[in-house]
Amino acid sequence: MLGDNIHFLLQPRSIAIVGVSTKPGKIGYLLLENILQGEYPGKVYPIHPSASEILGLKVYPSIHSVPEEIDAALISVPAKMVPQMAEECGKKGVKGLIVITSGFGEVGEHDLENQLMDIAHQYNMRVLGPNVVGILSNGDRLNASFIAPLPLPGKVSMISQSGALLAALNLASHSYRAGFEKLISVGNMADIDFADVIGWLNQDEGTHCIALYAEEIKDGKRFIEAAGKVSKPIIALKAGVSKHGAAAAASHTGSLAGTAKVYSAVFEKAGVIQATGLGNLFNRSLALSLQAPMKGDHLAIVTNGGGVGVLSADAAEHFGVPVQFMPEDLQEELRQFLPPFASTKNPVDLTGMAGPDWYLPSLRKTLSHPWVDGLVVLFTEGAGHDPVEIAKTIRRAVDESGVNNKPVTASFIGGDRSEKAMKWLVEHGIPAYNVPEEAIDALAGLHECAKLKKGMAFSGEIYSNGKTETALAIIQKARSENRTVLSEIEAHQVFASYQLPVAQMNLATSEEDAVKIAREINYPVAMKIVSPDILHKSDAGGVKVNIQDDVGVREAYHSVIENAKAYKPSARIQGVMIQEMAQSGLEIILGSVNDPAFGPAIMFGMGGIFVEVLRDVTFKIAPLTLEQSNQMLDEIRGAALLDGVRGEAPRDRQALAEVLFRYSSLVYDLAEEISESDANPAFVYEEGQGVRIVDARILLNSNK
Ligand code: COA
Repeated sequence: MLGDNIHFLLQPRSIAIVGVSTKPGKIGYLLLENILQGEYPGKVYPIHPSASEILGLKVYPSIHSVPEEIDAALISVPAKMVPQMAEECGKKGVKGLIVITSGFGEVGEHDLENQLMDIAHQYNMRVLGPNVVGILSNGDRLNASFIAPLPLPGKVSMISQSGALLAALNLASHSYRAGFEKLISVGNMADIDFADVIGWLNQDEGTHCIALYAEEIKDGKRFIEAAGKVSKPIIALKAGVSKHGAAAAASHTGSLAGTAKVYSAVFEKAGVIQATGLGNLFNRSLALSLQAPMKGDHLAIVTNGGGVGVLSADAAEHFGVPVQFMPEDLQEELRQFLPPFASTKNPVDLTGMAGPDWYLPSLRKTLSHPWVDGLVVLFTEGAGHDPVEIAKTIRRAVDESGVNNKPVTASFIGGDRSEKAMKWLVEHGIPAYNVPEEAIDALAGLHECAKLKKGMAFSGEIYSNGKTETALAIIQKARSENRTVLSEIEAHQVFASYQLPVAQMNLATSEEDAVKIAREINYPVAMKIVSPDILHKSDAGGVKVNIQDDVGVREAYHSVIENAKAYKPSARIQGVMIQEMAQSGLEIILGSVNDPAFGPAIMFGMGGIFVEVLRDVTFKIAPLTLEQSNQMLDEIRGAALLDGVRGEAPRDRQALAEVLFRYSSLVYDLAEEISESDANPAFVYEEGQGVRIVDARILLNSNK
């Protein structure tokens, strides 16, 4: 047992119902009815001001008139009365409250919610909700909710921010053949949130997979930490990931980030598998709760129909587990007992005549071959063999193979008999689906699960520059001048303090100065006017590039100043920036946005039209290990450009990964200061030639 009161709330030995109703059909009545119908073995104490008995149970006039200890109280009195009831529960020594009542923070009644939480803290009570449907637990025979009956039993525990959805899922579980161990409604999450319940479910024996429906994750860092510690697979469906909201972002990276990309990065960091929709959540969680993760990439498909075999191979490619031909020795083994017209390549097509006698050895041999990492079994129902017999054959083949660390999923396409067969399979531990694509996608989920776990087990070092003083001093100076945008040169200096390869630059305030700086940087150089009053330097004739010598510098110094003055006579001129002329290379963009819940997310993508038109970028949550930095390079569609296409030489991937590695530490270390940043453009040169960041931009948090 955890030494925390959350345990008494999620697995109570006794429950009081405060707000039980005498009137059938009302929520307060349903709560008691459901607890009784669920055959809860613990003690139940209905509390009502005037009734003496409801549904055959003795009713108490108040919570303090109950003689025994109470672990949890279900509260379903109107919102205004909730704080008073919570206070009475606190005085009685109740350990946790499940607050069914709506009308708190979700409708703007934050004061009422805070009042409830103050009381809960005062008496050390944990709170689920408010605004929840309750808890349903098959393992504990506990239906502390106003929805019924207890769900179809299964090994998935679902945590949902939406109560109505939980109620619907409870009923839909039958049509998906995907049952639940627990359904937990978290509502407004005034106290107990996803992180708490995930951590608790990790020690719950009946839970093999944790599924989440999330609208908002408030304490993102706590979520990542809690999910990262959980050994069971977690799958999440995040609602509200449309582009809306990204438009107002201040920087390029901000506008590319959007909720979907940040959440995907968060789930990856936390080792959480993502569901693409409700059906997908059902399908994948069923497989995750019954089968082992798929540790390698080799998927085998065994079918009795060529058509569904081909469809499955297409789906496998689509879901990221493309099929390959089976090794010759396995094909040879299969040929020993299959007719010559069967195909042994992959998918293995046993053909329409196949019955248990062909399925059994084929499945046994395929699953036990070391090359195979996961198996999908398909059956198209015809007039011949009984699907239930095939289902039993699949189970038998898996048992006889002695293999229990490779996942198997199935799909039977047919009518009622196929339905019966799939029900039998699920009840016997093998996830089965109505269409082959779902069976493949479920296996892809198990593949993703293994990949995420592997990624998380890698505990690489985080880059450290040892000190942040240089960067902080530059930032403090800007803040003392009430600026939240660093100048170009300041941003370059901050980047340089993390050993990032920024193009050299310096400000000249005289012609002599300009020549001196240009010589230090080395020719050729670029020169730009620096004035707070001129935003579009080129339009003002304030930019000269490719200057080759001292004479050119002297000439350019005067001409950019004269042009600027002519363009805007009132402009305040601070000097002329002398910059290294970076050679052009493969153009990329790096960026960061600081998410209020999760901290900084790092972006990488190809520059130019790739980012403008194709938005070909990828995100990860900082800080990154060197390994993760390398992974990012392969995550964009244009990844092949780094390896060199059409005869171009390969680019310096190693230097680029190191740049990402350092950059992620910069934004992570300075997360309290930097809200967004960009390195745009940066150039990647040929192998061994490194990377050059031409332009750096840093925006500071304005609410500090
Ligand atoms: N102690 C104990 N019980 C008390 C009480 C007290 N001091 N004062 C009142 N009650 C009883 C009432 O007598 C009543 O029982 P009765 O029907 O026999 O008279 C019962 O509590 C309920 O009170 P009532 O005023 O009838 O409220 P209600 O049933 O209309 O509504 C809620 C109460 C909580 C259901 C309602 O406010 C609510 O929040 N509904 C939405 C809940 C929801 O959907 N939550 C999940 C969202 S996902």
